[in-house]
Amino acid sequence: MIHYSDPPVLLRDVVPDVNEVIGILERNAPYTPLGGWYRPGVDDTAATSPLWFQNDWVHADFAVEGSDLFMWHEEVAATARRFYDAEVVVPKSLYVNVMAAIAESGPAHTDNPAFEGRNRTNTPMWLLRMMLWSGLFDRWAIVQATSIWWLNDVEGGGLRYWPDGPEKPPQRHTDRMANTALVGDNHGMFHQVEPVGPFEAGTRFVTGRAELAPAQDDSSDWAVTDRGKEVYRAPLDSYRVSVLWKADIYRNEEERRRLQADALSLEDVARIFGEDLAARGSDFRLDLEHLDDPSQQKALAKIYPEARPIDAGPSVFDAYS
Ligand SMILES: [Fe+2]
Repeated sequence: MIHYSDPPVLLRDVVPDVNEVIGILERNAPYTPLGGWYRPGVDDTAATSPLWFQNDWVHADFAVEGSDLFMWHEEVAATARRFYDAEVVVPKSLYVNVMAAIAESGPAHTDNPAFEGRNRTNTPMWLLRMMLWSGLFDRWAIVQATSIWWLNDVEGGGLRYWPDGPEKPPQRHTDRMANTALVGDNHGMFHQVEPVGPFEAGTRFVTGRAELAPAQDDSSDWAVTDRGKEVYRAPLDSYRVSVLWKADIYRNEEERRRLQADALSLEDVARIFGEDLAARGSDFRLDLEHLDDPSQQKALAKIYPEARPIDAGPSVFDAYS
């Protein structure tokens, strides 16, 4: 079964000098449109991407200069430790979202799960999500804490979240978001970005090749360039900038060693699904040779459906497809 978490914890005045963050932002431009799970097979020559840019700042062996400011933030780590009543917090990744002019919401979702031995580097995302929603792999689930930090206050851009589970009304973090962080369980709790201004021209779209970077002039503007043409510009403080920190959580070192010694193989995954499917009287079995066949995903999604949170705003990725 899926366990819904406690409400996230709000921290204020998180970063002593936000200019340091602006420095990291500038040094790591340009930013590229969001890809991934919600946008499979997107044609990068068609203008179908909203102004939602995302870059990794820390991932696997890679870390941008200055990222320790977030990665080893003492109050954030201490809050995660308290939230989970856990001794071991292992900061894992950091990424940044920059958004503007999106008249619909982001998708209401839980963050992508990971299990001992199975993660997005060796297992298709759809299968990881089926593993989560089946509830059959909870024993191997890696508990991940998330902190979301916001640079500034913009028009719209609140966060809607479902701390009491998807069937109970959501709460919102809006207004006075600048330099606050929400620390909690985004893997167990549904959440959604609300529409981001400016709203006058509705949702703007670019191709997957578009880039966001500081404008090459004396202004404080950042500009979006798409196929050689500037298509949008605005001062940095009108973009919704959020920095996401993720850490693996273990109750203690002993539990960490025990879990890490028990890694799932793909064959284990197929076997565990097979046993449950047999018990349910289903003839369907996972075919590891054809994990890219969409009919497998469809079949499993029927048997192990994802929850859908109530009172979610329509997603920008559904509104135009
Ligand atoms: Fe998320």
